[in-house]
Amino acid sequence: MHAQTFLKRLDSIPDLPTLPNIVTKVNNLLQDPDTSIKKLGDTVETDQAMVTKILRLVNSTFYGFRSKIRNIPHAIIILGFNNVRNALVSVSIIKTFSEKRAFKGFEIKDFWRHSVAVAVTSRYLGEQSRLDSPDDCFVAGLLHDIGKLVLSQYFTESFGQVWKSVKGNGLSFYEAEKKLLPVSHAQIGGHLAKKWQFPVSLIDSITYHHAIRKGVSNLNQLLIVHAANTIVNNYKGDLGMRPDFSMIDPEAKRIMSGQLENLSEWFPDVAAEIESACEFFLKEE
Ligand SMILES: [Fe+2]
Ligand SMILES: [Fe+2]
Repeated sequence: MHAQTFLKRLDSIPDLPTLPNIVTKVNNLLQDPDTSIKKLGDTVETDQAMVTKILRLVNSTFYGFRSKIRNIPHAIIILGFNNVRNALVSVSIIKTFSEKRAFKGFEIKDFWRHSVAVAVTSRYLGEQSRLDSPDDCFVAGLLHDIGKLVLSQYFTESFGQVWKSVKGNGLSFYEAEKKLLPVSHAQIGGHLAKKWQFPVSLIDSITYHHAIRKGVSNLNQLLIVHAANTIVNNYKGDLGMRPDFSMIDPEAKRIMSGQLENLSEWFPDVAAEIESACEFFLKEE
């Protein structure tokens, strides 16, 4: 099967997850420069379950504000439009994709743990290097592997082949996929992000996280997600062990040399942050 055929098949899946209405509405509002805080606040407040979750998130230690954020307009004033949108996207994507059963042996919880770990690490790298908005990096990290979930839920046969090869031959998921499928989970994820009308930078960071492309709209964000993914996959928190950076793109190493050189100093703190983020995002309701 060719890549295009595969993606066409993806497009024709009737129950492919759609973004919750509220996310689409908020995205549209944010494209209009005249949108007021009140209008955005009113829109978010039509979904009370979402309001509760967002307020819990922005008041959690994860955001670290001392004063209590009481409502959505208040959250917008403190965090900004974009960050409230990011909180909304993060919360709703995890919810949307955790409702369907994945492939046997492939645990959705483990999947999200990895994604949250990459999200938190990306946020840290964005913040420390000042190369991109930490919050945008968080969302890109959270969604970078979303194509794997699509594969596991809608292309079970293909996923099964890849999974078997990962387990049997000790290949990485991406290597096995390259051998067996016409498209990678990265391309599938990017395709879905495009369908959902996400920002181009986010689409690119998902699509190219394993195969860096220099001409993307926001190369810094892409390199951050790529580096965070490699760090999370290689660095198991064993402080005595030097993580293997050979898989990190040279350009990423160059622009984040300050962060990568003393990884063992900061990663334990980030690992603790990952734990608390997992607790928040992956808690069963
Ligand atoms: Fe990946
Ligand atoms: Fe990953």
